[in-house]
Amino acid sequence: MKLFVANWKMHKTRPEARAFVEALSREIESRPPSGEIVIAPALTLLDAASDPAGRWSLGCQDVAAEREGAHTGEVSAIQCFDAGCRWAIVGHSERRREFGEDEALLARKLARCREAGLVPVFCVGETADERDRGLTESVLARQVSALSADPPGAPLVVAYEPVWAIGAGRSASPGDAGSARAAIRGLLPDRAGLRVLYGGSVSSDNARGLLEGSGVDGFLIGGASLRANEFAAIARS
Ligand code: PGA
Repeated sequence: MKLFVANWKMHKTRPEARAFVEALSREIESRPPSGEIVIAPALTLLDAASDPAGRWSLGCQDVAAEREGAHTGEVSAIQCFDAGCRWAIVGHSERRREFGEDEALLARKLARCREAGLVPVFCVGETADERDRGLTESVLARQVSALSADPPGAPLVVAYEPVWAIGAGRSASPGDAGSARAAIRGLLPDRAGLRVLYGGSVSSDNARGLLEGSGVDGFLIGGASLRANEFAAIARS
């Protein structure tokens, strides 16, 4: 079953989220998606973005590394689950870059997800500079090391998101995405329940080619997930 995760980042108000939900419902009624749908909105939008009919589930874009306590501004994995999330994006490159999140911190966030019952969507991917220097596989190996204490039998999603393709209007080639997918699977040989997604400038124009040419199990979608018709078109590809 393919998986299509919408990462809304810091976009939309509650009325905009409700309008999206109405539009996506119409899209799904007219032509159902070919996989499972997850929407990861800002936490203030969880209620507005939820589907009472259960046609999609909710995720959060981050969780705190701590379980609970005096951590002003943080939201715990347990709180996200309680608010309706079943998935959690962890280690997105924007958080790695803007907040200095590293493997040690991300390993703790992954542990909090497991305690709460959230399935992590763990993001990995090299920068343009690392790619130019031929470091893609070593960067992936370092990033995947954050999963070394994660229970191998638990369901896991890893999203390969080359930093240079995010929001760039130009995705990785299906071949490059396929190589990264194979490398990630090779780094996690004992993970039976692993799904590997691709993310980075996915659109309805390139989705089918990327799926067929790379063998990925779905997509993590940023910009193109903000419009219901575009997101639905990707989820039908
Ligand atoms: P994009 O973002 O689809 O806008 O490139 C993907 C992501 O950052 O998850």
